[in-house]
Amino acid sequence: MSAVMAKASRLLAGRVRPADSGVILGALPVPVILLDAGNNFRFVNHAAEQFLGISAASLAQLRLNDLLPADNPLFLLIDQVRASEATISEHDLTLESPRLHKQGITVQGTALPEEPEAVLLVIQDASAARALDRQLAFRGAARSVTGMAAILAHEVKNPLSGIRGAAQLLETSVGPNDRELAELIRDEADRIRALVDRMEAFGAKPIARTAVNIHRVLEHVRKLAQSGFAAHVRFHELYDPSLPPVWANRDQLIQVVLNLVKNAAEAVTQEGIAHPEITLATGFQHGVRVAVPGTTERLDLPLFVAVRDNGPGIAEDIRPHLFEPFVTSKTTGSGLGLSLVAKIVGDHGGLIEVDSRPGRTEFRLHLPVVTEKDADQ
Ligand SMILES: Nc1ncnc2c1ncn2[C@@H]1O[C@H](COP(=O)(O)OP(=O)(O)OP(=O)(O)O)[C@@H](O)[C@H]1O
Ligand SMILES: [Mg+2]
Repeated sequence: MSAVMAKASRLLAGRVRPADSGVILGALPVPVILLDAGNNFRFVNHAAEQFLGISAASLAQLRLNDLLPADNPLFLLIDQVRASEATISEHDLTLESPRLHKQGITVQGTALPEEPEAVLLVIQDASAARALDRQLAFRGAARSVTGMAAILAHEVKNPLSGIRGAAQLLETSVGPNDRELAELIRDEADRIRALVDRMEAFGAKPIARTAVNIHRVLEHVRKLAQSGFAAHVRFHELYDPSLPPVWANRDQLIQVVLNLVKNAAEAVTQEGIAHPEITLATGFQHGVRVAVPGTTERLDLPLFVAVRDNGPGIAEDIRPHLFEPFVTSKTTGSGLGLSLVAKIVGDHGGLIEVDSRPGRTEFRLHLPVVTEKDADQ
């Protein structure tokens, strides 16, 4: 999307021959709108006409304020773009008026240096997002009760049955004193299992958060991976050491990164990939915001964590359902890893994006950083 943005703003800034710019912008499958200082429509491409359901000729006589009520968050975004002269994107917007009914819209607003006060809007709706091979899983993914139950089963019961099985084996081979201990392990494992079964009936609980150093989390997972399932994989670290701590539950973040790294390692462990590689990257990416459900509050998510691999890419048939439970292409997979990831990231008020093609798959997390308000708690 940002490549589209860059292209669009270059074209509109007149650095490319004007004869080309109209044609190219017209052909872009993404709605592009240029507003002047008074929010009049200065330019709309064909996709924008379709999106708004109004012809360019009619739009030329209108202002954005004629289409949307003044309290639509889109106006806040536009004001912020004008004030900051930065690119800001907002996810999961609703554009609702007598003329428009659009939900789950992502809008990127950008200032044009050559045109003070003008704002370029690039719009992505859910179906366009799929077409662009760029998927966003919003908060709320995998929140269903069955999803939650399955996630618990995935993360607790499986290792637990391993522990129980090992204890049972020990019972048969050790002396009477040690047998008692092995029985204790088995009974306790059963007790935890019963507890998990009961917990499955309840939904998510508020999570306990602290200031977490994301690099320590990444290094922890990298060491785990390299001493086990990803011993054959070469790791690269591209860390921005100046990053502030994230406001998170450390154990849950480890689970998130571990699931992503495990998927990456499984993706690069295939025939034909001579040099399996995983890159862990962190950095700042300003202008990513999400709405806090049920409020007008907007959360800034300036920090990103990326897990990238050079595997074959996500299979076409999996993509539309990537974050749903039980979606898997693996014979031994349960398809719960990414639904767990989406759930935890959503609970943290974060966002996850995917960009995948053969030879390069990247999962990018956007996470909230510690604010003064959190630090006071
Ligand atoms: N890095 C990746 N490269 C290619 N495909 C991926 C990648 N990550 C996930 N996938 C695809 O998404 C599917 C779902 O992943 P998910 O982690 O939810 O489940 P799983 O890995 O199949 O099973 P589990 O995590 O429960 O062991 C995978 O089966 C795989 O097809
Ligand atoms: Mg997995």
